[in-house]
Amino acid sequence: MTAPELIEALVLPRVREMQAYSPDPGRYAVRLDANEAPHSFSEDTQELLRAATRDIDLRRYPDAGAASLRKAIADYAGADADQVLVGVGSDEVIAMLQTVLAHTPRGGPATAVTSTPTFVMYKMSAKVRGWRVIEVPLDSEWRLDAASMHKAIEFGQPNLVFVATPNNPTGTLTPPETIRELAEAWPHTLFVVDEAYLPYAGDPRNYRALARSLPNIARLGTLSKMGFASLRVGWLVADRALIAELNKARQPYNLSALSQAVAEVALTQCRPALDELVNQVRSERTRLTSELGTLAGVSVTPSEANFVWVNFESGAETVFEALKERGILVRSFHRVGGRLRHQLRVTVGTAEENDRLLSELASLTR
Ligand SMILES: Cc1ncc(COP(=O)(O)O)c(C=O)c1O
Repeated sequence: MTAPELIEALVLPRVREMQAYSPDPGRYAVRLDANEAPHSFSEDTQELLRAATRDIDLRRYPDAGAASLRKAIADYAGADADQVLVGVGSDEVIAMLQTVLAHTPRGGPATAVTSTPTFVMYKMSAKVRGWRVIEVPLDSEWRLDAASMHKAIEFGQPNLVFVATPNNPTGTLTPPETIRELAEAWPHTLFVVDEAYLPYAGDPRNYRALARSLPNIARLGTLSKMGFASLRVGWLVADRALIAELNKARQPYNLSALSQAVAEVALTQCRPALDELVNQVRSERTRLTSELGTLAGVSVTPSEANFVWVNFESGAETVFEALKERGILVRSFHRVGGRLRHQLRVTVGTAEENDRLLSELASLTR
């Protein structure tokens, strides 16, 4: 049997039709495409992080229950440790949710409702598992369209609804009241509130109170957007009985000892450094937003995240390619078509990176 024949015989047809998620592997002087936080921590903070790894015994498996880290996450997120599930990034948590919460008593495929555009992994991970995905367009100001969400939920009777707040790629927040209203109306669906970028927005306690009052709300979090993308540490905070079910699908040693140790120190001893990072990003975001807005044919959606959503009246593709040639990688959505043809998502970089972007864009839009 040849390899293609073997693939045809064994690989799920729906997987064969998919493309793997593959970020641009090229080398760029300025990478503003992945919503990482590129600022460096102080030498003292870096020393704290290095010290966290010194006593790790590399011969042994890590703590399978990640008890210490779960306690740190629980304190950070305002919950108890048994309400926390840890994953290799929130990507793995999303996959676990879609593996376990896939029951459909009335038959048919498990279903997820998302907005569009939004974070691509909700859909990719669902498709691999044979889920149906219903995508509800954001309104003309890139906000969640609550009325259309209700209709989609009524039609699709979904297992899961994903709401990223702030949303990727638009940077827009969904008010807690909107999520409350949806979750109360549809008690048999789990609403996954993705807080990946919430540290860059307003007061996270809003969503905490909401999740405490309704069992069908779960909160997704990650360290990736806070200066620790390489660790691959994400989590879910939810009802403890639900967490116990999800834990059955978790690989026992999913988080390495290195990731557990560094993440714990990041969330405890490094909190002041995280606050400082957030302040730096917010102030650069304000500057970037206002300076981009002065360029001809360019407008920016007010962002609550660590990136900005930029509209180019004459289309985004040429700007995207020209920036790339000049060593600056941002994220373009022109291939999706429609109104996304005009949009670039630009991560807020360091002051120097943002200066370089602004000066290249000024010459390109002149
Ligand atoms: C809304 C949102 N959630 C989750 C993630 C994934 O985070 P992680 O690195 O924790 O898998 C991203 C990454 O871009 C994101 O935009």
